[in-house]
Amino acid sequence: MKTVIVGAGAIAYAHAKACRALNVEIVGVFDIRAESAKKLADEYHAAVLVDMEQYEKAVQGADMVHLCTPPSLRLAYAEIAMKAGCHVVTEKPMAIAVEDARKMCDMAERYGVQIMVDYNHRFRPGFQKLLEIVRSGQIGDIVDAFVYRAGMLGGNAGTKNDTWRRKPGLVCGMSIESLSHDIDMIIQLAGPVRDVKADVRGTYAEIPEFDNNVHVSLNMESGAMALVNASWSSYMKGSTRGVIGTKGTVYLEGDDLFDFTRLRIRTDEMECEQEFKLNDIYNLATCPSYTNATRHFLDVIEGKAENAVSGAYALRTLEISHAILDSAKAQRVVAVS
Ligand SMILES: NC(=O)c1ccc[n+]([C@@H]2O[C@H](COP(=O)([O-])OP(=O)(O)OC[C@H]3O[C@@H](n4cnc5c(N)ncnc54)[C@H](O)[C@@H]3O)[C@@H](O)[C@H]2O)c1
Repeated sequence: MKTVIVGAGAIAYAHAKACRALNVEIVGVFDIRAESAKKLADEYHAAVLVDMEQYEKAVQGADMVHLCTPPSLRLAYAEIAMKAGCHVVTEKPMAIAVEDARKMCDMAERYGVQIMVDYNHRFRPGFQKLLEIVRSGQIGDIVDAFVYRAGMLGGNAGTKNDTWRRKPGLVCGMSIESLSHDIDMIIQLAGPVRDVKADVRGTYAEIPEFDNNVHVSLNMESGAMALVNASWSSYMKGSTRGVIGTKGTVYLEGDDLFDFTRLRIRTDEMECEQEFKLNDIYNLATCPSYTNATRHFLDVIEGKAENAVSGAYALRTLEISHAILDSAKAQRVVAVS
């Protein structure tokens, strides 16, 4: 398999490493900053693509593309690639506008290719363990799924003052960008969402559309409820996510936004809580989830697996993010259509 990477920033390196581990050859790298494209391309002996003409040529010889640009800048790359018959791995969120995500899904159908949206946390060993327990029925029916996570936007998300997330024209706050992972994980644990009631706050007065603190209460179609409490502007760090069931409780804990360091479980049959050390720390350089996700996508392309994170699925999660923002604005419950 051969791929072309578009957008050679932080996350592209995690994808490139996964490609190498799975013998997916990177044949070209494109970035609006030529020096960024060159840096990644040199590391992987790939061609540096300097304009759309070269990109268009490169995708002719590829099987797939990886779209790792900021989320609102992917449509044109997707269309050129899909037209050439390439399958698409796109970073989450699939887009910022629901309309763009819908266009991407329509294109994939038109050109007969697959899209996988990289909700990589679901492919991590810690979350897989949590999911396995919940699906085994050990904790009974789900009553409440919860996420509490707090930390500071930084690290791979760019320094505090240099990130596309807050740039005019590209702004993408937490509800759409980062919460897409939590929405995905809650759906995996507790099924489809029926409605949401949310409050969001931003801490940058000059960018009111950039939210970095979110509280959401969700009702699930199953009758379960869920709660997400997330902050990108907190010096207090940590995360807890899990499920309260009719027969027990199971949850992951960590010392930063996305660390799954411990799994704790207690069911009616247990005399006390059990704790398992997981050491599933979220580090872009070492996290196995990108390889796991890519492996899944290769299986999808080869017809060995159903696409578990399809464009249609990601479009639905994006609609939930927008419902969260609408709910916060209107201060009412918003149904997820
Ligand atoms: N799955 C995850 O856990 C995870 C983690 C971090 C980021 N992400 C997602 O990955 C995407 C990229 O985030 P990042 O942290 O790598 O950002 P980044 O700023 O580090 O990288 C983005 C790259 O895209 C390039 N770029 C910008 N506009 C472009 C254009 N029009 N055409 C081509 N290249 C362009 C930039 O020059 C930069 O090199 C976002 O959607 C983000 O939400 C996902």
